[in-house]
Amino acid sequence: MPKSLFFLIIIIFSSFQTLSSTPVIGLDSFLSEQYRRDPLASNDSFPFLPPFLKKSLSLPVPSSNHKSLISELLSFKISFPIYVKFVGPFSAAAPTLLQSFVSVAIPSSQFHVIGSDPHHLAVSHSLHLEPSHSGIDSEISAAIRAHIDSSTAPLYRSALFPVPHTVVDSIVRRDFQKEESNSAPGFYIYLLNLDKQSKRYAYSYDAKDPSPAFTKCLGTIWTGKERYVWIDLAAGPVDYGPALSGDGLLPRGEFHALASLHKNPRPEKALLADLASLVLSAYQTLLVPSLRIPVFLETTLLIQFIHIHGSDGRDQSGLDWANIEQILRDSNLAFKDQTLQFKSYSVKYTECPICSFAITKSTNSYTSRFLFENYTLIVSEYLDSKHLRQVLADSVDEIHRAIGISDDVYGKVLPVYVFDLDYDKVVLLDRFHQAIAFRDMVIAVRTRTAQTVSDYSCNGRHVITQTRYLDRAIVGSVLQSMWGVAPTHLLWSPEHNNTIVDYTWSVGQTPFGPFSEFSSLSFVQKDAARRNVLLISLNYTITSAIDLLESLAAHGGDRKLLKGNRYVEFVQRWNFLRYKLSKAVSAVSQLDYNKAMYFSRSSDLDLYALHTVIYQATQELEASLVCFNDPPFPWASASVAGVFLVGFFYVYAKKDKIFRNKRKRF
Ligand SMILES: *[C@@H]1O[C@H](CO)[C@@H](O)[C@H](O)[C@H]1NC(C)=O
Ligand SMILES: *[C@@H]1O[C@H](CO)[C@@H](O)[C@H](O)[C@H]1NC(C)=O
Ligand SMILES: *[C@@H]1O[C@H](CO)[C@@H](O)[C@H](O)[C@H]1NC(C)=O
Ligand SMILES: *[C@@H]1O[C@H](CO)[C@@H](O)[C@H](O)[C@H]1NC(C)=O
Repeated sequence: MPKSLFFLIIIIFSSFQTLSSTPVIGLDSFLSEQYRRDPLASNDSFPFLPPFLKKSLSLPVPSSNHKSLISELLSFKISFPIYVKFVGPFSAAAPTLLQSFVSVAIPSSQFHVIGSDPHHLAVSHSLHLEPSHSGIDSEISAAIRAHIDSSTAPLYRSALFPVPHTVVDSIVRRDFQKEESNSAPGFYIYLLNLDKQSKRYAYSYDAKDPSPAFTKCLGTIWTGKERYVWIDLAAGPVDYGPALSGDGLLPRGEFHALASLHKNPRPEKALLADLASLVLSAYQTLLVPSLRIPVFLETTLLIQFIHIHGSDGRDQSGLDWANIEQILRDSNLAFKDQTLQFKSYSVKYTECPICSFAITKSTNSYTSRFLFENYTLIVSEYLDSKHLRQVLADSVDEIHRAIGISDDVYGKVLPVYVFDLDYDKVVLLDRFHQAIAFRDMVIAVRTRTAQTVSDYSCNGRHVITQTRYLDRAIVGSVLQSMWGVAPTHLLWSPEHNNTIVDYTWSVGQTPFGPFSEFSSLSFVQKDAARRNVLLISLNYTITSAIDLLESLAAHGGDRKLLKGNRYVEFVQRWNFLRYKLSKAVSAVSQLDYNKAMYFSRSSDLDLYALHTVIYQATQELEASLVCFNDPPFPWASASVAGVFLVGFFYVYAKKDKIFRNKRKRF
């Protein structure tokens, strides 16, 4: 090829690159090929770049101002495609109106980690709305009508007629599957604005039916296992929340996005304004939920179920390891190369003195006043979860010996301790919880008592907690500890600068909260589990790249420190890193988490190479400074070299950890 033509190509490529920041076409197919060959990014792909692609990465030259490079790193945005489906008599202008209402009210655009150290991540998110009409309204209306007409009214007098959610869900789900196969991946929100029915109704969610005597929470929404949610605007209004006081008791109707929909007939514009806030609430709670804790990518995830009980003839009902394992396995929470393992153990208190000690040590009591014939003081017991955790964490070795656990596992291990107490009163953790999730363990407790009245109510009646049934509480806790999935009712509120409790979306299919009986997972939890790992992984790369830039700036900048080939490699690696990060972010937007993980891992290799280049340069510089300016010891550069040294070893250690198992594998 004539040289001038070659340069022309380079120039075309590079101008393309500066214009759109999507460099070179060839790079895309090169990386796709690498992804196909080496899906786990075990090997650095940089040395395999054809020379012309490598050359193309020399441009653009990164700005010499490190601040602008940092802000570039902080500007990665994951776009969430949301298809809103208007079902019912909406005007033709409704999609445009909704679009405009949502775009003026865009909420905080950063992912948040809640919990003990709340902070936001470096990656932000944005909502990409595509509203349109859908013609399934008459079919749904007819199905609801048929159900109401053919069923006898429930025995107990209730204001709302319960309609099984499956009546509507089967129709919506079919429509979703049809739509999904014809468009780019995204999330679907169906807004059902249906005709009035002869009776007021709401949806029942009898997942399992223990007994009709218990209060069932009715709702007006459903979140599918697949990526859709539907909201029936004509159903309800339903009412659920804390019965007396406490977190989550919000003035009804003010914040409750669903409650505002039952106002009298009003102009469509007002309805759409309310729907916009409903869509935003769903977006924040269901599609970009907060992270409960940061979770890192590990090759192996091991969940150890440890049942600690008193007698031989133990009653296993309500505690079904196989069921919990099935639920978690079926939800595809792991990445392609991760292994998810479950082990279960069982031990008696007599064989595990430390277990008895832990219970004794953490038992507390509280007094409450009840009105029977007169006011009577009642003393009840509970377990202090923090004490319990402390004892268990401090005596891990002893517990392992008692139970017979031999630990030889790389990766994340999550013990789930279930204390089965031969006791005839209700004992809960911190008075209210059947199970509590910590970063390093899950603790659950039950006694012989079968049920208790909780502090929550729905539709005017108290919710009854089935205290011997632990599967659901354990599934929810494991999701929090292992995958950082936040409960459906906890989210970060930028307006309050705090984590708030909001139960709006906590009915129907969710393993969290008192208002649902489902232990199965909806798309909300399934997506969050894998996205959380990706977000933390990207956050790590970005944070580490920022550290690198700051150290480089402290040393006078890239052009001063790096000479010749080193500078060329720096620029190429830097552009490669940035390119891969943008590919990772767009793969998350396309909901292709395995591909996103490939780019994230692959970009870590470039980061590592960047640290190496800079480390070597500082080593040489330090040597030359020591030689030339003898008397005054160059503290400044020595300390900067120290920073690089620390960064280098940090990344090196991390690299070792990340790739250790891959080496074993290949
Ligand atoms: C990675 O590199 C090693 C040695 O360089 C090679 O043996 C291995 O096959 C490579 N792995 C992949 C997935 O390309
Ligand atoms: C209060 O009622 C309990 C039984 O409900 C009874 O045993 C007790 O004596 C009563 N106390 C008073 C002061 O009446
Ligand atoms: C939010 O709260 C934290 C600690 O509670 C405080 O440090 C921070 O300044 C607050 N931010 C805003 C914007 O009020
Ligand atoms: C995420 O990145 C931010 C900013 O770079 C950093 O302050 C924070 O500690 C990181 N969080 C985690 C969990 O890595």
